[in-house]
Amino acid sequence: MPAYAVIGGQWGDEGKGKIIDYLAENASAVARYSGGNNAGHTVINDAGMFKLHLVPSGICWPHVTNIIGNGVVVDPDVLLDEINENNLTPENLVVSDRAHLILPYHVKLDQLEETRRGRDAIGTTGRGVGPAYLDKVNRTGLRAGELLDPEDLALRLPAIVDFKNEFLTKIYGADPVNIDEIFEATRRWAVELGPYIKPAEYFVADVLESGENLILEGAQGALLDLDHGSYPYVTSSNPTVGGALSGVGIGPRAFAGVAGVFKAYTTRVGAGPFPTELEDEVGERIRTVGKEVGTTTGRPRRTGWFDGVAGRYSAKVNGFDALIITKLDILDGFDTVKVCVAYEIDGRRVENFPIDSSLLARSKPIYEELPGWSGSTAGITRPEDIPANAMTYIRFIEDLLGVKASIISSGPRREETVVLKEIIPVR
Ligand code: IMP
Repeated sequence: MPAYAVIGGQWGDEGKGKIIDYLAENASAVARYSGGNNAGHTVINDAGMFKLHLVPSGICWPHVTNIIGNGVVVDPDVLLDEINENNLTPENLVVSDRAHLILPYHVKLDQLEETRRGRDAIGTTGRGVGPAYLDKVNRTGLRAGELLDPEDLALRLPAIVDFKNEFLTKIYGADPVNIDEIFEATRRWAVELGPYIKPAEYFVADVLESGENLILEGAQGALLDLDHGSYPYVTSSNPTVGGALSGVGIGPRAFAGVAGVFKAYTTRVGAGPFPTELEDEVGERIRTVGKEVGTTTGRPRRTGWFDGVAGRYSAKVNGFDALIITKLDILDGFDTVKVCVAYEIDGRRVENFPIDSSLLARSKPIYEELPGWSGSTAGITRPEDIPANAMTYIRFIEDLLGVKASIISSGPRREETVVLKEIIPVR
């Protein structure tokens, strides 16, 4: 029962979309299991460039069924836009009836709460993701399947919206939302999204039971995980491997592999500690050459050297058995490159990723410096074209994380990929 998880090993934006589009050639289904349209997955291939926020990155392969799992929170209008822009049909997209919906008041509350936090703002993407998960946990959320039961919706929705309006007006001093407009929207969504909404667990089970390959598409990254990330500067779901089990409804024996996607350096968007951050011309060079601007929000990303302490932790909490290293070409031409191998916290050498954000904020990186490589790795496709020093850099990261690299990405296009070891067997 071969399920392959592809998970961000850092603070998101590792290039998972490109990798999943590449790997999906050998899969029958690709399932998103966490997050919402806070994600931004870019896919570039012969069919064009696709910037996806909600639908899985397998959409360019006609043989692939794309599944939005129960662990995802779905903004129905964003989903409808993506369906229309990409000509998706119920034949190639399934939305779990258990996926929770992001409603207009969630988006408002996300933005109002960030403003209220002021200097302590998390720097969320403002898409309503956190408030939607909050309602899920509070058992006041609406699920996609409930759109198809208007009578039940008519019973539940008024009390929920009344309570939201109390919050909006009394706590935040904002305007209330209009329940009639929300009812109207739910009727439209029921018609337009109805054919996609299904008990997705059964689709996933069919794929696995027939021995076909399933890719579990991670969103965000392990260091933004609600449990394992740099709390409270995290997202509100579990991008790590546990989220993949609960977020689509499969058991652990279904797993055939768990690959961790890492940029050859580190980036972060939003607030929160980032020990290897470079606020100098090196950081600026990485940002410019790497085009490090958020796909969802357009915010410039913070940049820094590869963080081996965070990477090792991420490999452990996910059980990675393969590394995928992206954007190696962005480091082309540096005289030397640095990798953080430990932190110094209050004068002590620390090898483990600290639990506390204030400890992480006080962590100073201890670097190993490696020689850079000359020549360009941009667009290479053969292992023998990786310069010796770049290979030494890759091996250094492998040793630090205790996991072998399987794929090196040398550019944003599907074919700009070097395979050191196949991750998913040919279908
Ligand atoms: P939220 O997920 O919108 O609530 O944002 C919480 C934190 O996660 C913020 O620091 C965001 O910048 C970050 N975040 C959320 N989604 C992504 C992503 O897809 N890539 C990178 N950072 C993200």
